[in-house]
Amino acid sequence: MFSWDGADVEVVTPHSARRYRDLQRSGHATVYEIRACTEEDLGALEESMPSVGGALHAQFLRRQQAGEATYLVAWAGARPVGSGLVRWAGHLDAASRAAMPDTPAISNLTVLPAWRGRGVGGELVAAAEQRIRDRGHRQVSLAVGQDNEAAARLYARLGYVDTWLREVSRYDVPEDTGPQRRVEEHNRLLRKRLSRS
Ligand SMILES: CC(C)(COP(=O)(O)OP(=O)(O)OC[C@H]1O[C@@H](n2cnc3c(N)ncnc32)[C@H](O)[C@@H]1OP(=O)(O)O)[C@@H](O)C(=O)NCCC(=O)NCCS
Repeated sequence: MFSWDGADVEVVTPHSARRYRDLQRSGHATVYEIRACTEEDLGALEESMPSVGGALHAQFLRRQQAGEATYLVAWAGARPVGSGLVRWAGHLDAASRAAMPDTPAISNLTVLPAWRGRGVGGELVAAAEQRIRDRGHRQVSLAVGQDNEAAARLYARLGYVDTWLREVSRYDVPEDTGPQRRVEEHNRLLRKRLSRS
């Protein structure tokens, strides 16, 4: 239980279905769900999880509309609290893509700070994996920053293993004042084999 937006919040994921049904019956449940982004969601997304430069959510939705990606959003009632992108052709980095053909990648996983450690990240990954499995793929990949221990622990718990492939991604982050800042990230590439179920 934690306090958020002036309310007491208890997170009940689909893995505790009985508790969820009880809460629904008592009329106290906020529907918490994960679904693909739509045009109507962009306003709420920018408000709840402002993107650097202001257009990241719209960019991901455009990729989805082009068939290149699926942009998943986790909702607590009317508020987005997390999101993640499935890139159907794999990693953006060409060498990483070539090293793992026919392997969609999960990227840009993020959960609002107040909601971290409550299962939302794990549920987003599970929802992404289900969609990837549904399209007949047998494995999925993720890139994690070499110093991102919290995310690495989560992925290990979810069954991701190190491929020993490494990539460096470089991108520009807009600053409030002055020129953009170039960010360089050193990533470990992880992989998980998916069962047929
Ligand atoms: C990485 C990130 C997406 C994880 O999301 P999250 O919602 O915190 O993930 P989860 O809650 O599913 O799991 C995180 C931890 O909480 C624990 N947890 C899971 N469900 C829980 C629950 N219902 N109640 C309490 N704790 C729970 C897990 O055991 C896990 O612990 P661990 O650190 O020992 O593995 C989030 O921390 C984040 O947004 N970080 C910043 C952006 C980032 O680094 N993204 C990853 C890029 S690769």
